[in-house]
Amino acid sequence: MAVDILIGLQWGDEGKGKIVDVLAPTYDIVARFQGGPNAGHTLEFEGTKHVLHQIPSGIFHSEIKNIIGNGVVLDPVVFRTELQKLQDRGVDATKNLYVSKKASLILPSHKVLDRVSEEALGSGKIGSTLKGIGPTYQDKIGRVGLRVGDILASDFRDRYNKLVERHRKTVEFYGQTLEISEQEKDFFEAVDQLRSLQLVDSEYMINEALQNGKRILAEGAQGALLDVDFGTYPFVTSSSTIVAGACTGLGVAPKHIGEVYGIFKAYCTRVGSGPFPTELLDEVGEEIRQAGREFGSTTGRPRRTGWVDLPTLKYSIMLNGVTQLNMMKADVLTEFDTIQVCTHYKLPSGEITDKVPHSLEEAGLQPVYETLPGWKVDLNKIESVDELPEAFNNYLQFLEKHLQVPITIVSVGPDRKSTLRREAVSA
Ligand code: GDP
Ligand code: IMO
Ligand code: MG
Repeated sequence: MAVDILIGLQWGDEGKGKIVDVLAPTYDIVARFQGGPNAGHTLEFEGTKHVLHQIPSGIFHSEIKNIIGNGVVLDPVVFRTELQKLQDRGVDATKNLYVSKKASLILPSHKVLDRVSEEALGSGKIGSTLKGIGPTYQDKIGRVGLRVGDILASDFRDRYNKLVERHRKTVEFYGQTLEISEQEKDFFEAVDQLRSLQLVDSEYMINEALQNGKRILAEGAQGALLDVDFGTYPFVTSSSTIVAGACTGLGVAPKHIGEVYGIFKAYCTRVGSGPFPTELLDEVGEEIRQAGREFGSTTGRPRRTGWVDLPTLKYSIMLNGVTQLNMMKADVLTEFDTIQVCTHYKLPSGEITDKVPHSLEEAGLQPVYETLPGWKVDLNKIESVDELPEAFNNYLQFLEKHLQVPITIVSVGPDRKSTLRREAVSA
């Protein structure tokens, strides 16, 4: 059996949590492979909204195993809070949740480093979620980080202290002092709890499951345009958010990859700094923000909004080998008479291209739009694809024609139930 992978194709917050939850019943395992508490994945069902940060979005299905893979950076304190929140809602996640011993640990000092590094960048700041993601991945690649399995070692405290001393010097280099005694108390309490959970060699667990014919869904965090190699560098996150990240972040060989679900919004959003060619800084952008409730699931920050951007979508589809597209939040565009789609960019040289240039920040880069009629029908009320209005079907077919990948899921509301399955018409 294969590992199917769900990847955000834009700058995150496409609706990954919702679709993983919807698809989960057809899988035996759901696994996160990168990122950490910078993610905020929202699920809604039975009138309740849940936001997950590190726990995979299959957790509400008690028969499915959920794995936090080796590529993840895990904050034990955030993890403990997440588990508690689930517990308060009657979900005991400890039974069907497994954590890789090779996942990296986020320490309190990583969060301080994130903050001082952002402060030092001033107006050039990345707009990090300040969850310690960048500094933790730096330590991982720098081969000095701590991993979940290390908490089982008798000298864990010593190793912790050694790493924090390094961090202390770095913080002092930035002209600040490291004051984390309160946070350390929480951290060690959370580590004690983590020790009591199912800590596993997840690469074996996953490969044995594959051999036994089990189906696995890998849940991406962030989005392809935040990928450390291919995103809008340096305004990216510090992990491989594309399919290749699932291979290294779970220990899965490329030959095992099956379907790749590419998920995108019917428009586009971004939170944090960095280029965004189709950004709308006017009342249209504000209307989308309000209608789509575009405020960050992790930080509460208003998300920047704009029209859908086909050059970046084509780029993300190429990098990920997307086999099926999932279009989210089309219901948000109900009120618009017309919908704009960016099909190309006009470069400062005058050249028109549908390729993503080396830097999207290039001064003078302009989106080239096509205008399509809006559908003016509340899609949230629609229960089957046969009822979709013609103008909306035209929008879907227009996108499929350009993207050359079928749109097989159309989401028309935050609830699990507001999900339409679709046969591709024209891809
Ligand atoms: P993720 O990080 O990719 O899982 O996405 P987020 O959870 O950060 O953001 C997506 C937001 O859109 C959440 O508030 C979801 O509840 C909501 N959402 C998901 N799908 C739809 C949809 O089809 N329509 C509407 N209106 N909201 C949706
Ligand atoms: P999900 O999984 C949207 C953005 C931050 C910032 C940049 C770097 O919910 O889609 P980091 O904290 O990773 O160092 O921040 O990446 N970012 C996200 N934006 N959704 C996310 O996750 C994000 N995770 C990080 O806003 O611009
Ligand atoms: Mg999110």
